[in-house]
Amino acid sequence: MYKLFFRLVFTRMDPEEAHYLAFRWIRLAARVPVLRTYLAAALAPRHEELRTEAFGLRMHGPFGLAAGFDKNAVAVDGMSMLGFDHVEIGTVTGEAQPGNPKKRLFRLVGDRALINRMGFNNEGSLAVAARLASRNPVFRTVVGVNIGKTKVVPEEEAAADYVKSTERLAPYADYLVVNVSSPNTPGLRNLQATEALRPLLTAVREAADRTVRTRRVPLLVKIAPDLADEDIDAVADLAVELDLDGIIATNTTIAREGLGLTSEPSLVKETGGLSGAPLKARSLAVLRRLYARVGDRITLVGVGGIENAEDAWQRILAGATLVQGYSAFVYEGPFWARAVHKGLAARLRTSPYATLADAVGADVRKKTA
Ligand SMILES: Cc1cc2nc3c(=O)[nH]c(=O)nc-3n(C[C@H](O)[C@H](O)[C@H](O)COP(=O)(O)O)c2cc1C
Repeated sequence: MYKLFFRLVFTRMDPEEAHYLAFRWIRLAARVPVLRTYLAAALAPRHEELRTEAFGLRMHGPFGLAAGFDKNAVAVDGMSMLGFDHVEIGTVTGEAQPGNPKKRLFRLVGDRALINRMGFNNEGSLAVAARLASRNPVFRTVVGVNIGKTKVVPEEEAAADYVKSTERLAPYADYLVVNVSSPNTPGLRNLQATEALRPLLTAVREAADRTVRTRRVPLLVKIAPDLADEDIDAVADLAVELDLDGIIATNTTIAREGLGLTSEPSLVKETGGLSGAPLKARSLAVLRRLYARVGDRITLVGVGGIENAEDAWQRILAGATLVQGYSAFVYEGPFWARAVHKGLAARLRTSPYATLADAVGADVRKKTA
């Protein structure tokens, strides 16, 4: 049904317009109490065996919404209603900014992929903090807050911009993510080099501890799939050294590998980050490498090209405690999160593992045993 609708309606619309339309519907549905209650009950993960814990937070299931879909935290309850067990909002920057000129989002339907060069269009840390502060506390969705650098702030002053966002947003964040991996803010990914990353993460950690004294806000870093293997190892070692809570692997890629022949060549040539199915193999490889390096010392979050329960299961076996998705939601529709959780529960039941936690990293452990 959704696929027919997608073909007949969404593919005829500009992808960004389609995104906002779908977004409006989700927000509207979430505002009608009967509908909200019905959908939430039908779509939330209910499988006892999927209950999981990540960086001290208890979750009903491991699958959540990746950053970028709800940049301004306007649809947290709507996305949770659709069965995403955690919602990562952002990227939010210190100051509001419009992002890159349109068109900046492209659908590569045949490849089940997207290319985007949105450029962190968002309302800024002050506005988003005010919105999070006014959320109805009855809804207990786990909210991750993903922060990035304001475009006009020079690279040398990046830490101050991240600290500003941290001071404003940490009180409302169940976990905080330092995003240094989007390809659409010039120079941002240079912050992944350990000489830049160490002071940045240290400053954000201190700011979070200074601002929120009643609990320790978990801090994660999100990395690019385009890092060389030795740079992945360096980030992993740094994360252990700094006692980070997690690493999210991965963001979109600037590579164009894995694209079939089905997408228009003009689309493939668009600049920006590629996400969806073609990213699957690389994101999985990065995750495996991270797990082999850090084991259970750091919680890993797998994202990139996850389309179904089997993909999510493979990430868990490769070391992910949590998994996230974005692009396949566009192609699969509103019941996607439920399908992933349901399929994961079935997969776990037929596996040799009693709990999800037992399955985390099992493939990598087997290989190194
Ligand atoms: C249109 C679009 C916007 C995105 N914006 C952000 C962002 O603001 N911050 C971020 O950390 N990741 C962003 N991402 C990356 C996703 O969170 C995710 O890491 C990536 O798309 C790979 O997952 P997927 O293949 O399931 O889409 C964006 C992705 C897309 C498609």
